[in-house]
Amino acid sequence: MQVFAIMPAAGLGTRMAGPQPKQFLSLGGIPILIHSLRAFAAVPRITHIVVAVRKTEMERVQAQIAEHGFADRVQVVEGGDTRQDSVAHALAAVETTYGAAPDDIILVHDAVRPLIDAATISRTIDAVGEHGAAIVGVPAVDTIKQVERTAHGALITATIPRESIVYAQTPQGFRFGLIQSAFAEATADGFVGTDEASVVERAGHPVAVVPGSAFNLKITQPGDLELAEFYLQHYRA
Ligand code: C5P
Repeated sequence: MQVFAIMPAAGLGTRMAGPQPKQFLSLGGIPILIHSLRAFAAVPRITHIVVAVRKTEMERVQAQIAEHGFADRVQVVEGGDTRQDSVAHALAAVETTYGAAPDDIILVHDAVRPLIDAATISRTIDAVGEHGAAIVGVPAVDTIKQVERTAHGALITATIPRESIVYAQTPQGFRFGLIQSAFAEATADGFVGTDEASVVERAGHPVAVVPGSAFNLKITQPGDLELAEFYLQHYRA
């Protein structure tokens, strides 16, 4: 059985408001995307990694991957207009280049979560082996409110017991046959999700949750990079 990692990295990073997409910013002197790729390249069970980037970035990313010594494990493909499109392009590459079988495992990981650790990746692979679909999640520490947006601001409509909430992170893993058929259904229905699990959930397949780590933050807004630098120095040395 083969295990593939797919990394969508074709976003523009508009919420970061920086000069370049966040996945190319430097963290401890190395691009964020390279940190993320390296974490997966270090797991021997992962046979191949496919990263989706914008067409204009393909050459640069290829060069960075070669510079860091794992060009033999990583294929660069062109991303799409949405995260889901970028993942779909990478899934197509997994099938055409490596002949993925329905029982093979696909892990999808945000390029902008550079502090993912090997133990969490392994836990996700094991859970996909058991359940067919599994994602990393962390318990909610805040009280969660459902709100309605009105002209006068947000008004609370419900308080959701936080014991029933997890924050979804990545990796998110699935049997190849399952994610392929769920993606085909979503495309046919015009559904676009903000993660892969939502696509698989709506196809009616249960998705397990394995524990994640607060250090696995998604670099999204100004300030996140400084926090990641701090974690890298103090917790991931
Ligand atoms: O937009 P969001 O923060 O959900 O992006 C999560 C990941 O999806 C990022 O790594 C981003 O580069 C990637 N993405 C992509 N193609 C897009 C949009 C986002 O690969 N069109």
